[in-house]
Amino acid sequence: MPYVKNTMEILGKANKEYYGVGAFNINDMEFLYAIVNGAVKENAPIIIETSEGAMKYAGNGDPALGAQVLADMVKRIADEVPIPIALHLDHGHDMEHVVACIKAGYSSVMIDASKYPFEENARITKEIVKVAHAAGISVEAELGRLQGVEDNVSVAERDAVLINPDEAKKFVEITEVDFLAPAIGTSHGAFKFKGEAKLDFERLQKVKELTGLPMVLHGASSVPPEIVEEANKYGANIKGAKGVPFDVLKEAVKYGINKVNTDTDLRMAFLAGLRKALHDDPAQFDPRKYFKPAMEMVEQAVIDRIRILGSSGKA
Ligand code: G3H
Ligand code: 13P
Ligand code: ZN
Repeated sequence: MPYVKNTMEILGKANKEYYGVGAFNINDMEFLYAIVNGAVKENAPIIIETSEGAMKYAGNGDPALGAQVLADMVKRIADEVPIPIALHLDHGHDMEHVVACIKAGYSSVMIDASKYPFEENARITKEIVKVAHAAGISVEAELGRLQGVEDNVSVAERDAVLINPDEAKKFVEITEVDFLAPAIGTSHGAFKFKGEAKLDFERLQKVKELTGLPMVLHGASSVPPEIVEEANKYGANIKGAKGVPFDVLKEAVKYGINKVNTDTDLRMAFLAGLRKALHDDPAQFDPRKYFKPAMEMVEQAVIDRIRILGSSGKA
């Protein structure tokens, strides 16, 4: 299927039909093939995303070169498979990275100006939207801060971190952004919650009603305990990891989440597979041999998530 030129082609449909699309982070060819293989088995649309760090890594230190290398690889592989694949810049922070991705042919970019006050975030986002829309691609922005909120914090503290639905409406009107990442209590990485995993679905529902846009869940990894245990069994030392459980993720999709950002789960799956492979065959020194089981673990993590999000068969 031809590479998807604008990510809204995938997210517009997901928004109408209320399902979630997996947005999976890559830095290299191994993760890309593992993700694509999983998505093809599920006949699901996917979004491949690369952080600024991924651009730098793939470009041997040069992010603009990295964007081209990654885009060439994704586009070439997308053409060979029967599912829609889009390519997205994850957490872009400045015009330089955004322009590099536009030039390389990305399908969308995220401008993350969420660390600035509302007006500045809106001003920066609007500027990026103009440039990206002129190039025919779409834009994601973020409102609120991506951090967990404990149950016992005051209303004021909660409001300071999580998205404000009225502000979200205003933000979308000012910026004309295409999809929005609302802070509703998730955070990046493997240690998201100390106690119960709770997200603010009430806020999410209001933002969805007021904006009508596809919603993005960052920090959406589930960090399955059995995968962490497997990695630890073969030498890792990861303690206290906790993600967004599958049932909470399913609920998030019901309330309007359409793009589900996943990086940590893939990293953890690869680590578990790689550690086991190296343990099981200590004489092996061909990377293709010990990457293969690691890639299969990533493929399975992708399949599990696509099923939870409801995008199986939506290609
Ligand atoms: O949101 C963060 C993603 O997991 C990318 O992480 O900046 O280490 O590539 P990274
Ligand atoms: P995780 O760390 O939960 O995988 O989140 C990834 C993410 O939000 C990328 O933008
Ligand atoms: Zn993120």
